Amino acid sequence: MSHEEFPTDRPAVVTCGLPYANGDLHIGHLRTYVGGDVYARALRKLGQETAFVSGSDMHGTPVAVNAEEAGVSPESFALDWHETYEETFPKFRVDFDNYGHTHDETNVELTTQIVRALAENDHLYEKEIMVAYDPAEDQSLPDRYVEGTCPYCGERARGDECDEGCGRHLEPGEIEDPRSTITGNPAEYREQTHEFFRVSAFQEYLGEFIDRLEGTPNARNQPREWIEGELRDWCITRDMDWGIDYPDGEEPRSSENRPEDGDGESDLVLYVWVDAPIEYVSSTKQYTERVGADVFDWEEAWKGEGGEIVHVIGRDIIQHHTVFWPAMLYGADYAEPRAVMASGFITLNGQGFSTSRNRAVWADEYLDEGFDPDLVRYYLATNGGFQQDVDFSWERFRERVNNELVGTVGNFAYRALLFAHREFGGTPDPEAGISEEVRERIEAAIDEFRAAVNDYSVRKAGDAAVSLAAFGNEYIQRNEPWNLVDEDPDRAAQVIRDCVQVAKAVSVLFAPVAPGSCERLWSQVGGEGSVTDAEVGAALEPPAADLDEPTELYEKIPEERVEELNAKLAERVEAADGESDDGDGAPDSDSDSDLDPVIDDRIDFDTFESLDIRVGEIIEAEGIEGADDLARLVVDIGVEERQIVAGIKRLHDLDSLPGTRVIVLANLERAELFGVESDGMILAAGEEADLLTTVGDAVPGERVR
Ligand code: 2FM
Ligand code: ZN
Repeated sequence: MSHEEFPTDRPAVVTCGLPYANGDLHIGHLRTYVGGDVYARALRKLGQETAFVSGSDMHGTPVAVNAEEAGVSPESFALDWHETYEETFPKFRVDFDNYGHTHDETNVELTTQIVRALAENDHLYEKEIMVAYDPAEDQSLPDRYVEGTCPYCGERARGDECDEGCGRHLEPGEIEDPRSTITGNPAEYREQTHEFFRVSAFQEYLGEFIDRLEGTPNARNQPREWIEGELRDWCITRDMDWGIDYPDGEEPRSSENRPEDGDGESDLVLYVWVDAPIEYVSSTKQYTERVGADVFDWEEAWKGEGGEIVHVIGRDIIQHHTVFWPAMLYGADYAEPRAVMASGFITLNGQGFSTSRNRAVWADEYLDEGFDPDLVRYYLATNGGFQQDVDFSWERFRERVNNELVGTVGNFAYRALLFAHREFGGTPDPEAGISEEVRERIEAAIDEFRAAVNDYSVRKAGDAAVSLAAFGNEYIQRNEPWNLVDEDPDRAAQVIRDCVQVAKAVSVLFAPVAPGSCERLWSQVGGEGSVTDAEVGAALEPPAADLDEPTELYEKIPEERVEELNAKLAERVEAADGESDDGDGAPDSDSDSDLDPVIDDRIDFDTFESLDIRVGEIIEAEGIEGADDLARLVVDIGVEERQIVAGIKRLHDLDSLPGTRVIVLANLERAELFGVESDGMILAAGEEADLLTTVGDAVPGERVR
């Protein structure tokens, strides 16, 4: 990877995937927005100039279908939801610098310009294709107006995406056994002329782009297969009324079989996935228009050499952001993204969120329960790696809040600042400086934080601050300043000065994850202005001498609250049961995300002992030619080296695996896969083959028991 480390001299733009303006937000949706917000705040902490933008996705069938159901026009339906989202995000302290929508003038204009640029650069052509049609309604059936069978994996799919199966984007006409979602009747196919983007011509560029792309490993690895395989051109128009008009050129193009509006102009609109990502640019442009180019220059970020563009998305839309979108940008002479961070899905008590079954923790409901938004931000940002699937349960929520936020961060800050206030009225002689041990520990936390940002890990950025608070607790306990006050007041003052400094450092480093509570902590240590504007260097600047009596940062959640909340959820699900799912783009498929029940049959200890499980270290990793998923690994298991075949080719960045500690089942019988002998098995968890590793210093060859 060829990018300079953050912070760089170029402006960064952090974007979040646009929510379709078509329904209530639940905390599953919030994962991407909280992740993006934490990341943008963390970049700024490093001194990186950053704009954080997004907007509502107003067009396409996801909005049109729901608007029709509600009996209102797509425009007023989408605008209503847009306004709701605009109000909801700040309540979770997700503070976009600009939050626009795809139907606003800026986006319509920019989309038209970009599509024209693609046409001028000869990247568009028209073609006759077969599109699904409902004869009873006498209308075309684009995208969500048609359902059928995915031609690739055989699962039930929507017209433009295999949302319950392989996740592929489907082109018009591709879906098998099409049925109209309006009438439920089998759809016919009819010939129509549509506009295509020549994505196939960008294969070489995309191959190089993906090598440069940073972000989470899933976003860098999955697309290789699509890019290296048959890269097909992309139909960018739809026969429907709602959307941005396809901008006809000056020259009349062939109009045979082309839907028209009666005056010879094309009646096609752009596919929603054309104008949606362009909103990233439009939203940045609106930000510049508001604050001035001297504060943030959208053109510097998106044109020429470009800035540091980081897209934060859900993993179901990786293909759009790593294939179609960069090809569009390149084809229209815009700058390319630097990174894509793709989050895993979120489940509720081990099952998918379901809008229609009311099995969700709704964003408003969470706030109505009186919980501080920082708590759910902490949970969502740090409960697992960003690309991992995360489960939400009120039990786990309570556990993490009580143990980590109350027990570690809040407890440390309160006891240190209360002691400082009572014994010294604040920080004793702040200019006298902190001890070497504490300086080094804070510097290490800053380094960890910086490394986390460069590693695109919001979890590690949060962990850096929580571990620092844990150190603070241990430090105050070890040094017992309460016993020093009388016998060695200077030493007591030193310990307390150190502790107040650690509390200040925690407020700075934890602020991206928990901006509200860290603002309170910042003012408790006498910080000036807002902690949001404080960069990492502030963690080592002396705190104020006079400090007020502190208040607790977080409150414990009693067990009964969890029982209450679970009961409310169960009641709601029961009431809504029986209704069909409306599919809101979130992982709604209830059964697909169920966790396997624990196997009933117990094994005895001897059987367990008969498994020879070892710590290993990957020495080599390469894909097996001709096999889509398999990789050949050479693993050092201490006593010898093993060749092991693993199904991780598409799921991991193989080049970065050497040096990784893994867990190996060493006495599994040998097997041959794709002509390559496999002598053992690497243990991995979940669909993304998350590799099991060690967190301590176990060396290769050690048995796992
Ligand atoms: O999948 C979705 O929910 C889309 N609305 C995301 C669009 S992101 C982008 F590219 F604009
Ligand atoms: Zn499929």
